[in-house]
Amino acid sequence: MNSQLPETFQNQGQLFDFLASGDTLYEYDRESLDKLAAIVASPDAALDIGCGDGVIGAHLAGTPHIGIDISPRCAMGARKRGILAAVADISEGLPFDDGVFDTVYCIDVLHHITPHWDALFPEIDRVLRRGGTFVIVEPDATNPFVRLTQAPDSPIRVAPWNDEPAIHPNDMATRVKALGYSYTLQPIDISGAQTQRNVFPLWQRLLKAPFVLALAYRYRNTPNKFCLIATKPPSAESLSSNS
Ligand SMILES: C[S@@+](CC[C@H](N)C(=O)[O-])C[C@H]1O[C@@H](n2cnc3c(N)ncnc32)[C@H](O)[C@@H]1O
Repeated sequence: MNSQLPETFQNQGQLFDFLASGDTLYEYDRESLDKLAAIVASPDAALDIGCGDGVIGAHLAGTPHIGIDISPRCAMGARKRGILAAVADISEGLPFDDGVFDTVYCIDVLHHITPHWDALFPEIDRVLRRGGTFVIVEPDATNPFVRLTQAPDSPIRVAPWNDEPAIHPNDMATRVKALGYSYTLQPIDISGAQTQRNVFPLWQRLLKAPFVLALAYRYRNTPNKFCLIATKPPSAESLSSNS
């Protein structure tokens, strides 16, 4: 297939429609899927925000999950894997009633909507029941390899969209803390590869390769993601006593 310069996509919906044009959006190794399954646990009612083509959601217990994604092709792929997926833009709110989910999880999604987190976090809080769990897994900006290969305008950017910088874990911790949630934060290494490799032209990939490979080797033992598991206070009283 011919390459398609990332700059030609008008929005992330178009980009991810392209990235999901094969059978699978990302190929994860079994160990990584198991790690994610252990983190998200086995909720009865779970919302997968930015569900992609549902590969992760389908691996988790407690299915069928509900998923939303801006890319129609991703949502279709997720439905084929048993996720009840709808097309929606999370920066415009969440189309669900209050307190209906036991768990809300965002895996590799929040860095795509930087800086629209201010609107999304209260929305997640609204749809999550009291005592429910909010899980975030994102590329970790404290890992230099991850930070430099995702930074906007970086000469060694491998991230397909120019504005999807890795996130500093403290930025997420501050936000869940402000909601009164308790949380744990830990590094996690996830091995997943985009299956559509033709986003950047071959010459660009060849030019970047020596630098990208050298950095990848240098930081090979540094986890590439962080995982934040936050718990919504079980009662309104505990919410005010946390603040
Ligand atoms: C890196 S992929 C992660 C997919 C899946 N969570 C996974 O880990 O395999 C990011 C996903 O977020 C979706 N996305 C990006 N911006 C979005 C938005 N504003 N609203 C909803 N989904 C969005 C993309 O379409 C894509 O499926």
